Amino acid sequence: MQSQSQSPAVEMSELFPYAQGPALRACHPGDKALEVTWDNADIARYSYRWLRDHCACPECRHPITRERLYMPLEDDAFLNASPDATIEDGVLALRWADGHQSHFDAGWLHQRRPEARADDGVPLAEAWREDFAPVHVSHADMMAGSDGRREWLTALLRDGLVLLDDGPRELEEVVRITELFGPMRATNFGARFDVQSKPNPNNAAYTAIGLELHTDLPNWRHPPDIQLLYCLENEAEGGASLFADGFAVAEAMRHEVPEAFLRLRDTPIDFRFQDEDSDIAVRAPVIDVDATGRIREVRFNNWIRDTLRLPPEEADAWYEAYLIFWQRLREPRFRVDFALGSGQMVAFDNRRVLHGRGAFDPNTGRRHLQGTYLDIDHLESHLRVLARHASTAAPATPTTSTNETGVS
Ligand SMILES: [Fe+2]
Repeated sequence: MQSQSQSPAVEMSELFPYAQGPALRACHPGDKALEVTWDNADIARYSYRWLRDHCACPECRHPITRERLYMPLEDDAFLNASPDATIEDGVLALRWADGHQSHFDAGWLHQRRPEARADDGVPLAEAWREDFAPVHVSHADMMAGSDGRREWLTALLRDGLVLLDDGPRELEEVVRITELFGPMRATNFGARFDVQSKPNPNNAAYTAIGLELHTDLPNWRHPPDIQLLYCLENEAEGGASLFADGFAVAEAMRHEVPEAFLRLRDTPIDFRFQDEDSDIAVRAPVIDVDATGRIREVRFNNWIRDTLRLPPEEADAWYEAYLIFWQRLREPRFRVDFALGSGQMVAFDNRRVLHGRGAFDPNTGRRHLQGTYLDIDHLESHLRVLARHASTAAPATPTTSTNETGVS
């Protein structure tokens, strides 16, 4: 059962390139699973039911939409799936007991080894280290096409924050940039907002007080993912932008003060915004983790925390943990602070990176930023589509984008 070809052309109804993987060497049927070996000595096991479920023939997968048509629950043979398996012209060929036949491309199977992480060009989040400095991408490179966009997207998804430099001082430029990737995410404050001050302010909207570190709109079931803030003018004295990596803070707490970490992870609290027109509330923990324990989200906004509905002992323990988080946020190892210049835009993951603003003196000049939000799915999608093209030039499996952009 030796493989013969490096690039077997089996249509797997999959747009991401998969044909450049190693060739199949052998397959060994077991009791419930098939063991597959490649020429590079990688070995993987796939359950027979999994293989039946992932058949990519036009009966099982729609050839145009690429969506699954096969319904295991309607197949009497599914629970006893056990095929004859051979390697024919480098392709894994399976003949099932009911006569159905499935063919699997060697590279496609290799990408889907159960122990392999899906490598689709989207980087994992990496916590800021002590010497973290944000990546800068020029506005011209972003507008020029794929390389600049890939660098900007990769840095944003990996670091949770990225800067765009040397853009035009034009109203609504933030909208034009956002719409390169997807529609603006609207909230009860609208889709696009102004952060503006004037000399000698005559209205509370133009106040110049500092804003403590926070995430926006944690009172929503799904707070905005990415915030984009485009600086049109920043002539006033003060007014630095402050950022802290909430994931790094939570991760540090997990190791340094585990009880406090667990308290913030396991205690849902109430967040709420109310005005004449809206009352948007949700109950959620400050730190949210996924099924593997990886930090998924931080909700932290002291002025829209609602009533703390906890018995006294739990309330006090929660306040202690909350204070520890708050103190950690102020430690330089988790922070970057800088002043945005006109024509510069910062984009950050609002469910990870907390933001704030230093106080400034509005009598020394104008400060005008325009901002909006964007769903992270649009950004990941954009990067995956870019990775399709990048990986066709690669010799084997696609490269990870995390290595493409150094932190400058
Ligand atoms: Fe904010």
